[in-house]
Amino acid sequence: MTSVKNKVNTEVGQDLAKAAAFLRDGELVAIPTETVYGLAGNALNTDAVLKIYETKKRPSFDPLIVHVGELEQAYALVKEFPEELKKLALEFWPGPLTLLLPKQSLVPDLVTSGLDTVGIRVPNHPLTRELLLNINLPLAAPSANPFGYISPTKASHVLDQLGGEIPYVLDGGDCQVGLESTIVGLEQGQVIVYRLGGIPIQEVEKLAGPLLILPQSSSNPKAPGMLKSHYAPKTPILLGNLDDMARNYSSKGIPFGVLSFCASYEEYSPHRQILLSQKGDFSEAARNLFAAMRELDNAGLQVILAEELPEENLGKAINDRLRRAAAK
Ligand code: TXA
Ligand code: MG
Repeated sequence: MTSVKNKVNTEVGQDLAKAAAFLRDGELVAIPTETVYGLAGNALNTDAVLKIYETKKRPSFDPLIVHVGELEQAYALVKEFPEELKKLALEFWPGPLTLLLPKQSLVPDLVTSGLDTVGIRVPNHPLTRELLLNINLPLAAPSANPFGYISPTKASHVLDQLGGEIPYVLDGGDCQVGLESTIVGLEQGQVIVYRLGGIPIQEVEKLAGPLLILPQSSSNPKAPGMLKSHYAPKTPILLGNLDDMARNYSSKGIPFGVLSFCASYEEYSPHRQILLSQKGDFSEAARNLFAAMRELDNAGLQVILAEELPEENLGKAINDRLRRAAAK
C-alpha cells in the first residue's frame, strides 16, 4: 500500500503565540532570520527533527543548525564553550555566525547526524528572537527550501515550495543579509571556517587571528552539508565573462538571463537581466542574490549567465554560492 500524505493548510502571519504553539506540539514552522528563512522544529524532539529531514527531503547525514535566543541558552546544549569561539559569539551574536561546539547528550544525535559537535547560532531577527526567548526551546532549522535548491529570503519563497507541507510560516519580511551564516569551529586550537557566509571573513579574522578556510567539497565528512552542488536553480547557470557569453547566446537567439554584479548588458538583449547592486555594494548584492536567482529560474530561460564578484568582503561568500549553483 502506498501511503498518501495529507496536505496541510499553510497559514502565513506574524502570530508568535500561534508559531510557539505549533512548535511546542512538535510541528514545523518556517521562521524568518536575517540570513534566510529556516524550517524550524523543536531540536529536543526527535519526531519534530525527523519531520524536518522528511519535509526538506534532506539526507540524514547532513546535520542541522540549532537556534537559540541568547548566548546563555546555548550553554545547556554544549559540553564546553572554548574561549576562542566565545569571543566570536560575544561579538557577532545575534548575527549570521554559526559555531560548532562539542555537543551535550541532551541534543539528539539526529540533529547532528551523529557528529559530536552541534552547530549553534543566535539569529538576528526581532520576531524570531522574541519567539526563541519566549518559547525557551532550542529550534533546529535548516534553510526552508527543498534540499539542493536556493535558500528562501522571502515568506513567499517558502510558501511556493513548502506550502501544504507545514502549518505556519512566520512572515518577517525580506531577509536583510540574504546569505546563510558563516560556520566556524575549532580543531586543536585552530579556528576553522567551514562555510563562508553572512559575516565577511575579514571580520572574523580580526578577532580570531589567522583562519583555516576549508575548501568546500562533498568529500569533506566533517561538513557533510558542504556539498558542491547546492543552492542551485533548475535552469543551468554558467559562470564566466558576461560580455563573451552574452554575445554568444544573443547571436544564437537562445533565451538567456543575465545575473550581473553592477554592470548592464542590455546591448546583448538578454531576455531577462538582473543587477545585484547598481552601486556595486556587496551587502546589497548579497541581499538580492537568492531572490534574483529564483526570479531568473522562473522566467522560462534556457540558461542563466552570471559573473563572479571581486574576491573581497562578502564577494567571497557570494562567489561561493554562485560556483555551487553553477556546479550542478
Ligand atoms: O543562516 C543559516 O545558517 C540558516 C538559517 C536558517 O539559520 N540555516 C542554514 O542551515 O543554512 P542549512 O541546514 O541549510 O545549512 C547548515 C549547514 C549544513 O551544510 C550542515 O552540514 C552544516 O551547516 N552543519 C550543521 N551542523 C554541523 C556540524 N555539527 N558539523 C559540521 N557541519 C554542520
Ligand atoms: Mg541550506
